[in-house]
Amino acid sequence: MANDKEVKLDKLPEILAQCNYNSVARIPLRKYPLSPRLFFNEVFIFFRFIAYRRNLFAISLFPKFYETLFQIQNGHLFALYRLFIKNEKVPETSLQYLPLNDLENEGIVKREGNKYWSQFRIVPFNENIYITDPWDRNIPNFVYLSYDSLVFCDLAKEEIKGRRFQRGLDMCCGVGILAIELSPFCDCLLGLDINPKAVDYARMNCEINSISNVAFKDLDVFAFSEEHRYDLIVANPPFLDAATCGVLNPIDSYGGENGFEISLRIIKRAFELLSPGGELHLITRTYFCDKQDQLLTQLRSLLIDNIFFEVNYTYLTTSVENSGLTKRVYRMVYLNMKRGVANRFNIRTRSLWYDWSNFF
Ligand SMILES: C[S@@+](CC[C@H](N)C(=O)[O-])C[C@H]1O[C@@H](n2cnc3c(N)ncnc32)[C@H](O)[C@@H]1O
Repeated sequence: MANDKEVKLDKLPEILAQCNYNSVARIPLRKYPLSPRLFFNEVFIFFRFIAYRRNLFAISLFPKFYETLFQIQNGHLFALYRLFIKNEKVPETSLQYLPLNDLENEGIVKREGNKYWSQFRIVPFNENIYITDPWDRNIPNFVYLSYDSLVFCDLAKEEIKGRRFQRGLDMCCGVGILAIELSPFCDCLLGLDINPKAVDYARMNCEINSISNVAFKDLDVFAFSEEHRYDLIVANPPFLDAATCGVLNPIDSYGGENGFEISLRIIKRAFELLSPGGELHLITRTYFCDKQDQLLTQLRSLLIDNIFFEVNYTYLTTSVENSGLTKRVYRMVYLNMKRGVANRFNIRTRSLWYDWSNFF
């Protein structure tokens, strides 16, 4: 963990709840260069900002504009946004209403001269808050939480709403956001991640959000041997390809040479781990070569030998996107695979309120 002293979380949830911290999620965080299609997206961002809805991590043409509006409306809360979302050093004078000594004693913030900074990013999502690393891949064992984590939670909740599962499994759980958000739908849930620091965060996030039916283990999902079967498996695994990641191939986002190798291995693992009637929900990215979806091609051949699985393969973007970093064309995919009685394949195209273009 980035912190050199033990982190206590006795006071943090109460302090943030009193400040109405979750409303900082109205501010879009990411700036994108001017392009005509993003003007359309901006209309939604503006609406969500006005209607007190979530914009966090969204792509905006003018994040500074929203920051300024927010600062005028609520200067105190804006200081918290700078401290806990942007991980900036914030003058003590802007944070006077916070019990800074308590937060310092809990190991959340540190003092430097007359400024304070937070060693963690604190992401508000729905009624919960999630502690994670600041956005800096130079941090050793960097732990990931971003836009796709939030979008996946929304999509998965929509897909499973009104149903109840006995045993859930979150493969590649990161800070535990999927497991925690889906815990109301399951009797118990297990989250696995190869990065021990991610698992530390996941346990902290359970504690901070008072979740009691979720456990986490630091384990490679491919070394995980289990006699139990699961009726819900979720995964937001690393899915960037070598061309997008460069030479570093970070553990949080490198999904293999083509980006979807880890996703395919997870799908194969799910063939073994799903109970009858059980289902896998997975978000990943595919790319196209000669107009052929490369992940889909490989998935079809996998299914030939696994005839009792039904797959809903949903494109999350209306159009095929070029990442800007490489010449490849990519599409985000939400896959729902059910262990049923027949082999079926549906391909749907879904348009989101979110615009994923250039995002990955
Ligand atoms: C893109 S992050 C997503 C984290 C989380 N699911 C979310 O949605 O925020 C992918 C995660 O997969 C983990 N990971 C990568 N390879 C893994 C493996 N073989 N076994 C378990 N976890 C793995 C990484 O440590 C990272 O936390």
